[in-house]
Amino acid sequence: MTFQGQTALITGAGRGLGRALAVALAARGATVIGVARTAAELDAVVAGIRASGGDAHAIVADLHDPEAPARVAAQAAALTGAVDLLIHNASTLGPTPLPLLLDTWPEDFERVLAVNLLAPFRLTRALLGGMALRGQGAVVFISSDAAVEAYPTWGAYGVSKAALDHLARTFAAEHADGPLRFLAVDPGEMNTAMHAAAIPDADPASLQDPADVARRVLALLASEAPAPVRRLAQEVTP
Ligand SMILES: NC(=O)c1ccc[n+]([C@@H]2O[C@H](COP(=O)([O-])OP(=O)(O)OC[C@H]3O[C@@H](n4cnc5c(N)ncnc54)[C@H](OP(=O)(O)O)[C@@H]3O)[C@@H](O)[C@H]2O)c1
Repeated sequence: MTFQGQTALITGAGRGLGRALAVALAARGATVIGVARTAAELDAVVAGIRASGGDAHAIVADLHDPEAPARVAAQAAALTGAVDLLIHNASTLGPTPLPLLLDTWPEDFERVLAVNLLAPFRLTRALLGGMALRGQGAVVFISSDAAVEAYPTWGAYGVSKAALDHLARTFAAEHADGPLRFLAVDPGEMNTAMHAAAIPDADPASLQDPADVARRVLALLASEAPAPVRRLAQEVTP
């Protein structure tokens, strides 16, 4: 897949990995649409990309709202027309410090699933028909090693990421003979606000720069038919 002339919709593009993916895709010639709740962060990303000669747009939305994905898809269509690449990067940990499952309120568990799992499902459904009609498109789900490792206190988040991996696998199996691609990527630990909220005493110097991770995610996408679930931390750095 090449990115020149493609339109990429990235959730959680205001900071961290989502921001890095937006900047990297715009630098490779893609038109970028960033989604998040914080308008100021999105506006800064869009302004930076435009200042570098790229094309970017912002859609402010709270993906916890079940109606948001349909609204985001409609706004994206109005802004740029078709979406070629959809990256589900927005995510919540739930309340921090992270609680044991026994101490997790069901309402908090539900909120984590709503943002991390149901919103990607809804948004994929809203955009996949158009990709199928045009015979091109790719959907990326940003996962975590918490999808496969049972870390104490990471229960709601881990369950949401395990389910997200399986969503990617199942979409991939259902479209195995077609042109659409589905990929779940565990980015490994990165120096971001989410990591600081989860593990405040981590040494930032020991964590990956989201810009490096973004480059590797795009390299994976550009490669021939990758397996639907990939764990970057276990792969050799190019
Ligand atoms: N950081 C790590 O070490 C690490 C490790 C493994 C996996 N990951 C995964 O990598 C991805 C990016 O993480 P990150 O560390 O870059 O996180 P981050 O710095 O906290 O950024 C998260 C982004 O998601 C947006 N977001 C959160 N809740 C949202 C909502 N309800 N509606 C719309 N947007 C929402 C945030 O913007 P607003 O708050 O403005 O909405 C922000 O732009 C996530 O899927 C995460 O699970 C991260």
